[in-house]
Amino acid sequence: MPETLTLANARLMLPEGEMRGAVTLEGGQITQLRTGASVPTGAIDCAGDVVAPGLIELHTDNLERHIQPRPTVDWPHGPAILAHDAELAGAGITTVFDAMRVGFSPSLKSRHTPYARGLAAELLAMRDRQVLKISHFLHLRAEICSESVIDEMAEFGAEDRVGLVSLMDHTPGQRQFRDLDKLKAYVMGKNNLNEAEFAEHVARLVALQDRFADLHEADVVAHARRYGAVLASHDDTTRDHVTVSARHGVALAEFPTTLEAAQACREAGIAVMMGAPNLIRGGSHSGNVAAAELAESDLLDILSSDYVPAALLFSAVQLGEIWGDLPRALRTVTQAPAKAVGLSDRGLLAVGQRADVIRFGVEDGMPILRGVWSSGIRVG
Ligand SMILES: [Fe+2]
Repeated sequence: MPETLTLANARLMLPEGEMRGAVTLEGGQITQLRTGASVPTGAIDCAGDVVAPGLIELHTDNLERHIQPRPTVDWPHGPAILAHDAELAGAGITTVFDAMRVGFSPSLKSRHTPYARGLAAELLAMRDRQVLKISHFLHLRAEICSESVIDEMAEFGAEDRVGLVSLMDHTPGQRQFRDLDKLKAYVMGKNNLNEAEFAEHVARLVALQDRFADLHEADVVAHARRYGAVLASHDDTTRDHVTVSARHGVALAEFPTTLEAAQACREAGIAVMMGAPNLIRGGSHSGNVAAAELAESDLLDILSSDYVPAALLFSAVQLGEIWGDLPRALRTVTQAPAKAVGLSDRGLLAVGQRADVIRFGVEDGMPILRGVWSSGIRVG
């Protein structure tokens, strides 16, 4: 059952800025906001901690990591979903779009086989049974240059309420992997390939792109529309990429790789999302544009934890230091992602919103989470 509680004497991160005050959660909703440092009887004294909306994560590989904790290990899906859910709750994330890959190619050497339909069914069943701590939506990341992507997408329908579909093309030599040396270091290290095997791997992927890129792109977009999902682009690099994305009705750009692409997104009204690890590490592991550079150019709208869930809150605090404005930085992980995917019941500290709330202090630039509530239930 949702708790009734008041978090008082807090730095409230409100849509219009920061205010010292108290927030009351009741029946799973935010029911009251008050100004002042007083602590009413029965309220929790936050002693100046930050109280903000729960974080909203739109692009995370984390569930995939839990179902395959090692390259040759398949973990049972139920326990993997529960562990992933608990990890996110513990990182202050109260809404997640769980990325699942659609699109595999048996002609590639990798051992992967399609898994999204089965995993999604298990996740949705667990969501219906209310065994999960936080709010989960489906995110299909569609590898256009693959053999199975269309068949896999055909198995999903409007009843699955797929929240997000991203259009991906990870062919070497372009987009995320324009820098082939970075790709070589990553792929050879991860898969233990030698030079000749790497060259063969690249040639196979380029052949798949020749075969499928044009053939599949429009069909993937059509399936996303059929589900009612928001469409995202991925790793857009040039103005031409962004023009094509805008034509497809893309609302959100995942990790544009250049300043030029981010600028074109802004002009086209497409929200720019960058990886939290990129911001924290001071650059992209694939050698692309730094999130901090986009932040300084006022071209960063949303942060995503990408491959490290705990990075999301930490990166927002760091962004607050870059901008000198913590409430604005926190909007990149709350209000802005909610808006990008059309969720109007969360992302703000405001009366009538879901009681998705976090409390944290900041020590040495590092957020120390002291409480996480999802729909008014304490989950972290
Ligand atoms: Fe990518």
